[in-house]
Amino acid sequence: MTTTPRIHPLDPLSTQEIEQAVQVLRDAKQLHDGFRFATIDLVEPGKDVVRDFTPGSPIVVDVALVTLDRIEHRAYRAVVSLDQRIVRSWDELIGVQPAIMLDEFEEAERICKQDKDFLAALALRGVTDPELICVDPWSAGFYGQDDEGRRLVHAMVWVRSRPGDNQYAHPVDNLCAVVDLDEGRIIRIEDHGVVPVPQQDANYTAASVEHFRTDVKDLEIVQPDGPSFDVDGHHIRWQKWDFRFGFTVREGLVLHDIGYTDNGERRPVLHRASMAEMVVPYGDPAPLQYRKNAFDAGEYLLGALANSLELGCDCLGEIRYFDGVINDSLGQARVIKNAICLHEEDAGILWKHTDWRTNIGEVRRARRLIISYIATVGNYEYGFYWVLHQDGAIELEVKLTGIATTGALEPGATTPFGQLLNKDGLYGPIHQHVFCARLDMQVDGERNAVYEVHTESVPAGPENPHGNAFRAVETLLATELVARQKAAPEQHRFWKVVNHDRRNAVGEPTGYRLDATNAVQQLSLPEAHISKRAVFAQNHLWVTPFREDERHPAGEYPNQSRGGEDGLGVWTEQDRSIVDTNVVLWHVFGAHHEVRLEDWPVMPVAKVGFRLQPWGFFDQNPTLDVPPSKSAHCRSQQ
Ligand code: CO
Repeated sequence: MTTTPRIHPLDPLSTQEIEQAVQVLRDAKQLHDGFRFATIDLVEPGKDVVRDFTPGSPIVVDVALVTLDRIEHRAYRAVVSLDQRIVRSWDELIGVQPAIMLDEFEEAERICKQDKDFLAALALRGVTDPELICVDPWSAGFYGQDDEGRRLVHAMVWVRSRPGDNQYAHPVDNLCAVVDLDEGRIIRIEDHGVVPVPQQDANYTAASVEHFRTDVKDLEIVQPDGPSFDVDGHHIRWQKWDFRFGFTVREGLVLHDIGYTDNGERRPVLHRASMAEMVVPYGDPAPLQYRKNAFDAGEYLLGALANSLELGCDCLGEIRYFDGVINDSLGQARVIKNAICLHEEDAGILWKHTDWRTNIGEVRRARRLIISYIATVGNYEYGFYWVLHQDGAIELEVKLTGIATTGALEPGATTPFGQLLNKDGLYGPIHQHVFCARLDMQVDGERNAVYEVHTESVPAGPENPHGNAFRAVETLLATELVARQKAAPEQHRFWKVVNHDRRNAVGEPTGYRLDATNAVQQLSLPEAHISKRAVFAQNHLWVTPFREDERHPAGEYPNQSRGGEDGLGVWTEQDRSIVDTNVVLWHVFGAHHEVRLEDWPVMPVAKVGFRLQPWGFFDQNPTLDVPPSKSAHCRSQQ
């Protein structure tokens, strides 16, 4: 996949394109060796370009590069034309810090391990073997200190009891080093007093398990005729669905131009869908814990943290893998082998009815198509699974697993801000995982509008003589401010995106419905720095008119941001019209994580997500044509 020539304007950047873009920029700007490359992205072509593109016609490729001059402490954004081999634009970025690059993780650890004062602070806690020290660089965020212009991370420490041990069982709490990555040194050690390092081991690897259960028999997924999808470059066709996919260093997997072919007509649903940002606010006011607030997409770059997947372990059945191609900090292409997984799954019953008079039953089994990847962000794993259903529904399922971050209390102490995990003082602080999906809609075309719909009881009176009456009420969301919405499960609230130009069998506009099934309530106070930086987390729905440069809900550069300058909160203050135009839905959902004993030492998958469901898009159940299963595949045992 990585070396195939570009055949479509939306194809992700190839290794050659990344390296060519860097070369053009290096030559034109005479970049010295102190320049680093945070992100290198395709400048996605305009919608007219995509719409008018015909296979084989010439493709213009522009590449956006965010670079850092680590010697002069400056950052720039460049746009390079690969066709013309010129730099189209070169702008200095003032007052922002580009995202943290992967090798800065290792640099932070190295810097800490070479700092005498930091090692002395660790020695005070009985931590002396540098080989066993693990430094996690937490994004520095902003907490009121005046560190402007510096490129920082907060280094926090965990210790292995021996090589290969799970270090998260042994947190060094109350000690943090503020590392200046540009200067390559610690600028501040914050020591809030010695707390004993919990000593009890907690390991989860196969090697650490004494007895496996013995009653697990083989389960194999066999598709003797192969899977039902077709892949052509980055275009995927599965039953009536088809779409394109890309992969970016920041958002990871991106879906483009999703459509469903209905009675021979291809009907568009989504122009672009991505996981545009996420933030993990912690609820613990303890000196280290309150600073755990990572924006895992914008600060850490989810795509750069993607795993290479292994057949039979991460995925089961007839799998098709694709590589992820991103940049490293030196401006070279980095290929993540098998980053993306595509496969079909049986999904239980699609529909069923038994006519009890004739005793004739009709049942259809459902399938779903899943395209996914998994990112490891320090201690945590996030699996992002986009799911297409036969009935026209589209789901994003996020699977959270990995290891909860830990803190330490004095043995015997407890805290209302976390769950004790053992009697050694180890605890898991309370936190949330807040995701924001960006859904650039095109339900039957680009002109869409959004309605809020809820159900209410009818007041007693002539309209409700029996007291039983309740009804759905819908309100057009005319502008951005009224479209700042929260979930309201007590009112069964949902939102529908409609196309007023297209009518269904009963004369209503065709549409899709979004349910906030995993709404998470922001609980930090409005004046908290994290609330100002993660304004998007205040609402569960935002709607904006499409703008090319409005891509990331916490702003283009959330690393060390103070909030209030960029992102959904600022854009929607304009209160633009969102009626019968190209609307973008921003759906905020997540996991409210009160850590359980059962989440330790590695967390069983927790799932959150959302579903887009056709809502008067079709004239009836669109799956009557799904054929019955062959009975040979249903084996019963008496
Ligand atoms: Co969690």
